[in-house]
Amino acid sequence: MSVETKDVVVIGAGAAGLMCALTAGVRGRDVLVLDHATRLAEKIRISGGGRCNFTNLHASPAQFLSSNPHFCKSALQQFTQHDFIALVEKHGIAYHEKKLGQLFCDNKAQDVIDMLLAECADVGAEVAMNVSIQSVQSKDLNSGSGYFILETTRGQIETPALVIATGGLSIPKIGATGFGYDVAAQFGLPLIDRRAGLVPLTFDDDILARCKALSGLSVEAQVCCGKVCFAEGLLFTHRGLSGPSILQISSYWRPGDVITVNLAPQVDLAAVLIARKRSTPKQEAVTVLGEYLPRRLAHDISASHGGGRLAELSDAALSALGAAVNGWQVKPSGTEGYRTAEVTLGGVDTACLSSKTMQAKAAAGLFFIGEVVDVTGYLGGYNFQWAWSSGYVAGLNV
Ligand code: FDA
Repeated sequence: MSVETKDVVVIGAGAAGLMCALTAGVRGRDVLVLDHATRLAEKIRISGGGRCNFTNLHASPAQFLSSNPHFCKSALQQFTQHDFIALVEKHGIAYHEKKLGQLFCDNKAQDVIDMLLAECADVGAEVAMNVSIQSVQSKDLNSGSGYFILETTRGQIETPALVIATGGLSIPKIGATGFGYDVAAQFGLPLIDRRAGLVPLTFDDDILARCKALSGLSVEAQVCCGKVCFAEGLLFTHRGLSGPSILQISSYWRPGDVITVNLAPQVDLAAVLIARKRSTPKQEAVTVLGEYLPRRLAHDISASHGGGRLAELSDAALSALGAAVNGWQVKPSGTEGYRTAEVTLGGVDTACLSSKTMQAKAAAGLFFIGEVVDVTGYLGGYNFQWAWSSGYVAGLNV
């Protein structure tokens, strides 16, 4: 059987893998990208509601979680959000800032996929879909002339540079697997525990019943877990709580933690209720709540606290009502898990990788990029920026 030989093999034709391939191709490297899925870059296609929030104007190391928060700095500096924006502009892709620096395609996410594919084609990087990798072996690794041997459904492939870009565990139904973690373990590289991130939170019966009753309703809220807070939209759903502020806090939440939700961060409701009791004592408490909250939510909170006219409520009762709005304490029972999570926290331990090249320190020629690495961004285009930046630096060094 003939053996195919390539300068570089990238496993995973997603955001990071394609960016790595086109960067290595520009350097004249003979690149082959392999992916087991039928369609490439599915996560780009479904991202940002189909419009791909491809980066964030404010991207900086501060928006990334990792056991080593310094690790992402080099890659983010070597290939910034402005470098990616320049690529998007070179291809004439129309885009806009939605909010908070989040850049989306005007038309569709497919524009970004087409751009990456056009760049790969320009430099002769081949992308092969529907290829399963059956085994990865290595020969003479760290000798200076080591190489990898891949058994695949396309045949045997040998390469001195192997890039693992297979992403995380979220959304298994579109091709996510733990392949990258298995390869890391095979080569003796440590892993940081994985868990679902940027994911809706679920609740036991009492809170769940309220969420169901308020399903579809959204408010601007501040959500805190310990000292970490996010102020963005919150959405009640029939499964629990979702919306950007909840997704953001989910990356910090651990089982057993209580989260504090401020449903009206612009106002101190206890102070307002007590002042109104003096000025307009005949007013219903729910009417005051309704000035700051959607009616349905105001009624729900007031009903669960007794409600009534302000004059009939003690200052302590009004303070409790205010606290139910400004400091709602809830204990999630869990998350929706990888089925709906946007990302996987944890992954290949950055301690075993070079932050400048993404190469494994103890396995010359083996690189890990993108979500498979223990670097996870906030919601808002940061995860794609990590994929572009880490893919780029590996592409410069394979
Ligand atoms: P990615 O998952 O993109 O690619 C991995 C590739 O490897 C896939 O093509 C897969 O088929 C392949 N693969 C897996 N196992 C394999 C195996 N065993 N053999 C061969 N191939 C294999 N981020 C952001 O910044 N802005 C956004 O708008 C969104 N929106 C969003 C929406 C939804 C619904 C999700 C699930 C996620 C997002 N994200 C996001 C997160 C973002 O999609 C994610 O962080 C990046 O796609 C990660 O890029 P990677 O290239 O690392 O993995």
